[in-house]
Amino acid sequence: MSQKCEFSFPVEGENFDDAGKVSVEIKRLLKGLGITGDILRRTAIATYESEVNIISYAWQGTIDVRVTDDNILINIQDSGPGIIDIEQAMQQGYSTANDRIREMGFGAGMGLFNIKNCSDGFEILSEINKGTLLKILINR
Ligand SMILES: Nc1ncnc2c1ncn2[C@@H]1O[C@H](COP(=O)(O)OP(=O)(O)O)[C@@H](O)[C@H]1O
Ligand SMILES: [Mg+2]
Repeated sequence: MSQKCEFSFPVEGENFDDAGKVSVEIKRLLKGLGITGDILRRTAIATYESEVNIISYAWQGTIDVRVTDDNILINIQDSGPGIIDIEQAMQQGYSTANDRIREMGFGAGMGLFNIKNCSDGFEILSEINKGTLLKILINR
């Protein structure tokens, strides 16, 4: 039987208490669909880093996941300040995280780099003072 499944989660900016909860839930749902191993690991990294970025930098956002027999498509859309220089933001170690974020253990500047590394397809669009959209494709 062919598989198609979609789910969507809101993520609230500044809500560090809940950081990781959405990506853990997504991982649980994907496991339930029989996704394991490297595919599960890469999807979990991409969703976790995206979730933390919404909490750290945006006002609010949503993580949408669509699973088919062939792939997992993750759209992460936020309303927020946007990213002025995407190329710079993608660099390993580049971060604008403030002290508060760093004290919580975030802000290593590896998130976007790791997301791209985990993806088979990766697209990022951003508009200043509007928000950011990440499209992540992971082949099964
Ligand atoms: N959703 C977002 N909205 C606005 N800026 C973002 C967003 N995601 C990432 N950024 C910017 O890109 C930088 C690099 O992000 P990332 O690689 O995840 O590293 P880190 O989160 O550790 O700073 C961030 O410091 C921030 O300036
Ligand atoms: Mg990050």
